[in-house]
Amino acid sequence: PVSVFENPKIASVNVAHRIAELIKTKQANNAPAVLGLATGVTPIAVYSELVRLHKEEGLSFKNVITFNLDEYYPMQPNAAQSYVTFMNENLFDHIDIDKNNIHIPDGTLPLEDIPAFCLDYEKKIGDLGGLDIQILGIGRTGHIGFNEPGSAPNSGTRLVTLDDLTRRDAARDFGGKTFVPTKAITMGIGTIFKAREIILMAWSRKKASIIKKAVEGEISGDVPATYLQLSEHVEFILDAPAASDLT
Ligand code: F6R
Repeated sequence: PVSVFENPKIASVNVAHRIAELIKTKQANNAPAVLGLATGVTPIAVYSELVRLHKEEGLSFKNVITFNLDEYYPMQPNAAQSYVTFMNENLFDHIDIDKNNIHIPDGTLPLEDIPAFCLDYEKKIGDLGGLDIQILGIGRTGHIGFNEPGSAPNSGTRLVTLDDLTRRDAARDFGGKTFVPTKAITMGIGTIFKAREIILMAWSRKKASIIKKAVEGEISGDVPATYLQLSEHVEFILDAPAASDLT
């Protein structure tokens, strides 16, 4: 289903409250809440609302276990552009999550250790019974996570090559495209698909044409987000400009 909200703030508060309800329901059952998280501009207001719920309304993250979608490769965790830094600044530093419960792909591994790391990432998620909710943004290539055009629907966590458009879109954060890593470690389409609930968010006119393709286009590896059309657990949460090309 597609839900169109008046503005990104209202939509983000709605998503944050759904995450908070999940966390509280799991708490009541003494169970962990397993969250799949995204970085980028899109989810920032979701995270700020979760921080507000923690600070002002006592929402605890003690039972929360997180798996981030992706990290650039190579990437040092303390670099300004790392997704570790992003998550710390936007969420983790401001809530009571146990740091041992945070998982982000490791951008510092030697190449030969990456396959084993990726298998272990999948196993950790599987051993917890899978992701309860996966939050997604969408790139202008149609990527979810860093699953660029050509990604297989059953792909798992792996090392990938970033699309040129993705690197151009990231250029501002890195002070030029040449400084954007060419690779990343990302959860696969298959990994994302196994989540019990998938929420893809998109804001602004800039996302309208890729949202049209993702929601209404032919299902194809050329636009990896189209695979989400095959899921019964996905919801597209949009603002009006991002929804403006939908028929
Ligand atoms: C981020 C990620 C990417 C972004 C996408 C949109 O962890 O996996 O797929 O969600 O590139 O980025 P923004 O939100 O910056 O437009």
